Amino acid sequence: MQKILDAILAGDLASLGTLPVPESYRGVTVRADEVEMFADRAHADKDPRESLHVDEVPTPELGPGEALVAVMASAINYNTVWTSIFEPMDTFGFLRRYGKTSPLAKRHDQPYHVVGSDLAGVVLRTGPGVNAWQPGDEVVAHCLNVELEHPDGHNDTMLDPEQRIWGFETNFGGLAELALVKSNQLMPKPAHLSWEEAACPGLVNSTAYRQLVSRNGAGMKQGDTVLIWGASGGLGSYATQFALNGGATPVCVVSSQEKADICRKMGAELIIDRNAEGYRFWKDENNQDPKEWKRFGARIRELTGGDDPDIVFEHPGKETFGASVYVARKGGTIVTCASTSGFMHQYDNRYLWMNLKNIIGSHFANYREAWEANRLVAKGKIHPTLSGVYPMEETGQAAYDVHRNTHQGKVGVLCLAPEEGLGVRNPELREQHLSAINRFRGV
Ligand SMILES: NC(=O)c1ccc[n+]([C@@H]2O[C@H](COP(=O)([O-])OP(=O)(O)OC[C@H]3O[C@@H](n4cnc5c(N)ncnc54)[C@H](OP(=O)(O)O)[C@@H]3O)[C@@H](O)[C@H]2O)c1
Repeated sequence: MQKILDAILAGDLASLGTLPVPESYRGVTVRADEVEMFADRAHADKDPRESLHVDEVPTPELGPGEALVAVMASAINYNTVWTSIFEPMDTFGFLRRYGKTSPLAKRHDQPYHVVGSDLAGVVLRTGPGVNAWQPGDEVVAHCLNVELEHPDGHNDTMLDPEQRIWGFETNFGGLAELALVKSNQLMPKPAHLSWEEAACPGLVNSTAYRQLVSRNGAGMKQGDTVLIWGASGGLGSYATQFALNGGATPVCVVSSQEKADICRKMGAELIIDRNAEGYRFWKDENNQDPKEWKRFGARIRELTGGDDPDIVFEHPGKETFGASVYVARKGGTIVTCASTSGFMHQYDNRYLWMNLKNIIGSHFANYREAWEANRLVAKGKIHPTLSGVYPMEETGQAAYDVHRNTHQGKVGVLCLAPEEGLGVRNPELREQHLSAINRFRGV
């Protein structure tokens, strides 16, 4: 592994195809024999620092259409939090089911799960049938793992029945020294970014792009008012940038002044601090409080000069969904990709049907959408929202920060990269955008 790293650090990328691939590597895992470890604990007390390990695991055999990547850096996504606390179920069920689909997929069914759905690194090997990528290519990987043997996926690969999220529903993820991906997950690494900066947008940037911008999602247009929950978080920090770039007006919801300040730094002007304003959408466990929806809606109108949101960018789920449906404008769209606070949503359907609103489900992104989202990063039009970086050994702490919602934007992880700041190939472009690239740093 050291020889591979030395070659990458020396810029000797041409030699990578000839250097031997190690038989094993270090990766961040959860273990199948530990899935019950938090059985008697409340959600908030389940601690990723106890369940995420750095283990030496065998390097998987490379199959057709695949690539083995030396991972320089990765990032924490909320799916790694879910994996590490074994909620809503442990991920070994995904690996078992995938393993049953083919002899090649059987490799994924292991008593350990190497997690992680983002990476920036260098291609080491490609399998039979891969022509578009070569050893030595500097890449990022999006997390759509798709088989495409069925007709359903051929208009939109997210609709393939064998669609999985790499490093969550498949093994050999990106929080590791090596990762196994399908070659159609690869995209060029933005040249003006360091490894850890390049690794952090992937999953959330692509998801926010489909959810908000793509015609498969809300199809945002200039002039739209967009209510964005968690506007300084992983998804929200990209949704806010897309709204501003696309001529829309974001109304950013956050939970502290610090987070409000970051939204202002991104260029947003309309911000709601949900903590300071004390919204309580639920009176008790079973009943919501429509008066609070109204108070929230009135506040949005006060900020926008009377406009209701054309689009509500949803992901908190149970806690906010009733309010989201209520505040969307007549004919407006609530677009959802998650349910962090609970997946059994309750809303007053009268506001939906009488006002001809739409609810759209959105999940990750197809290759084209992920490519478009990455292209915007590479052009310096969308910027990484990296706030802090941990070494791979401290991935548990990084995931803990995200679980406790004490982080901002994205939290990065160094895998093979020995330090931050390496891998920049276009310093001129970087210089033009330096303050935007560093906007979230150390907040
Ligand atoms: N379907 C997909 O493809 C996909 C892709 C990415 C993520 N996700 C899911 O989307 C969710 C968010 O991911 P993320 O990366 O953005 O996470 P994140 O970095 O933790 O950001 C989420 C933000 O939502 C806000 N929030 C959390 N709980 C809330 C609540 N009860 N009410 C209102 N706001 C709340 C928080 O902001 P404030 O505290 O500042 O309000 C938080 O910063 C997760 O459940 C994740 O699994 C799904």
